[in-house]
Amino acid sequence: SSNIVIAIDGYSSCGKSTLAKALAQKLHFIYVDSGAMYRAVTLYFIRHHVDLHDHQQVAEALKNIHLNFHSRDYQTHITLNDEEVSEEIRRMPVSDNVSAVAALREVRHEMVKQQQRMGRSKNIVMDGRDIGTTVFPDAQLKIFMTADPKVRAERRYKELYEKNPDITLEEVFENLAHRDYQDTTREESPLIRAQDAIILDNTNMTPDQQLDFALNKIKSLL
Ligand code: C5P
Repeated sequence: SSNIVIAIDGYSSCGKSTLAKALAQKLHFIYVDSGAMYRAVTLYFIRHHVDLHDHQQVAEALKNIHLNFHSRDYQTHITLNDEEVSEEIRRMPVSDNVSAVAALREVRHEMVKQQQRMGRSKNIVMDGRDIGTTVFPDAQLKIFMTADPKVRAERRYKELYEKNPDITLEEVFENLAHRDYQDTTREESPLIRAQDAIILDNTNMTPDQQLDFALNKIKSLL
């Protein structure tokens, strides 16, 4: 097919979605936040007390989950069975459980299938953990993002603090470290840099500098 896919992977809170949204907006591509899908599934599992060790229950729950993106303004608007859950999926109960849910084979299988469908015929930017390795191994551009863990925790803390002043920097740091550990060590498509992915360490870069970096890479492709 002739559509263009840009895959952005990397550790938690590296600014993947900030870059992905900016790129999509600039290029008039569709932006897909794959993490939001795992988060919405996690919210459903929490609400319905799904036992992660019970494959039958997990498979059954997946059949009852219908996710939809409404990308009006290059922000993530996601519905879970027609309920808008974009805010709730960012809170700590979901953040603390999402990596365990995302490690489940059945869950990944279903999400990857849906993600591949979204990128079959459209120009898209998708961010996540396995986009360049598993979802779109043939993506025209793959970027693997990383940044100093302390810097990442501080950035995420600032973001979360506005809505939840009770949160502590330490709690945020622990959550990121724990998710990175779970995401890189799981058996099913762990977080790893695709061999042909370009590394972007943005510890000391502004969002504009990152966008320029990525746009230059794209220009050299087209
Ligand atoms: O991107 P975000 O931090 O919102 O993703 C939440 C979690 O979802 C990650 O920590 C990871 O466990 C999981 N995830 C994944 N594969 C993706 C995107 C997210 O396993 N493609």
